Amino acid sequence: MKQLPSILTDGYGRKHNYLRISLVEKCNLRCTYCMPSEGVQLSPREELMSASEVYEIAKVFVSHGVDKIRLTGGEPLLRKDFEELVKQLSSLPVSLAITTNGVLLDRYIGVLKKAGVNKLNISIDTLNPDRFKGLTLRDQFHRVMKNIDWAIEEGFNVKLNVVLIKGQNDDEIIQFIERTKDASVQVRFIEFMPFKGNQWDQSKTISLETILNRVSEHYNNSALERIEDEPNDTAKNYKIRGYQGSFAVISTVTNPFCDSCNRLRLTANGRLRNCLFSDKEQRLLELFRSGASIEPIIAKAVGMKKAVRAGLDSPEEFENYQNHQNNRSMIKIGG
Ligand code: 5AD
Ligand code: SF4
Repeated sequence: MKQLPSILTDGYGRKHNYLRISLVEKCNLRCTYCMPSEGVQLSPREELMSASEVYEIAKVFVSHGVDKIRLTGGEPLLRKDFEELVKQLSSLPVSLAITTNGVLLDRYIGVLKKAGVNKLNISIDTLNPDRFKGLTLRDQFHRVMKNIDWAIEEGFNVKLNVVLIKGQNDDEIIQFIERTKDASVQVRFIEFMPFKGNQWDQSKTISLETILNRVSEHYNNSALERIEDEPNDTAKNYKIRGYQGSFAVISTVTNPFCDSCNRLRLTANGRLRNCLFSDKEQRLLELFRSGASIEPIIAKAVGMKKAVRAGLDSPEEFENYQNHQNNRSMIKIGG
């Protein structure tokens, strides 16, 4: 018998087995590339997904083939019912991961361990405490660094997310790579991406090419090794020969990787998004609350997915900052 096509397979044959769920719109840091200086309009509390709604909705995705869930924010650890939420989700047959700014990690290491959440992506854009304060507008550098070290010691699979912005932290590329010498950690340099309110400009983005040039200027030629990417990896992976850890570049701006995209995003207020750069969202939570099946709306979101960056295929279209003004700010998408 011929199998029906999955509602998670799009028109380009991409299978969406990875769901990113944003749990909160708030954050305890104010990274300028993410949170607009004028702040964001928060959704009324009753419009946010409750823990049991997150679980029930996730279950539907899992029944159709999602096997990886990442919890994001805002800052997901700000969620008061985080423990309960993660406990429920951990009963699903998925690989469960989290992206956090690390500030509250000390409180949750036990909870994460117990729930089998082994993959931690932690944002840290500078290794300099004063700069950290300038970039995040909060004085939490030492706590975050301590928590990163602790997580590595505790055996978590830790990736450090570093958003590089010209003139702000791009002189720290080598220092970050040096942290991979004696620690089993992956540093991921992320090209600065345009979102509403983050004053993006192409000239502020540090490209994959620039990063690799800086690396070859510093290390000798045979030191840089290209290592294998994971399936559907958003990052191009490298290491310095002999170093324990590795580094990677997420080159959404200069080298998009949309052809292997397997990601869908659910916002804290229950909207389903098929791409970071799409301003078309499906009101999934409303439908769920009405008691109707959410499968048609999932199929619709997947079916509408464009081949590349929500239709902003060419560098010209993508680099026109006007084309990002109807999108959400990053804080309300969750990365
Ligand atoms: N460009 C690139 N990365 C960003 N992030 C947040 N905003 C941006 C942006 N404008 C990153 C955060 C976090 C991840 C979820 O997304 O640093 O690590
Ligand atoms: Fe908070 Fe992360 Fe946004 Fe920084 S990037 S403001 S840590 S959600």
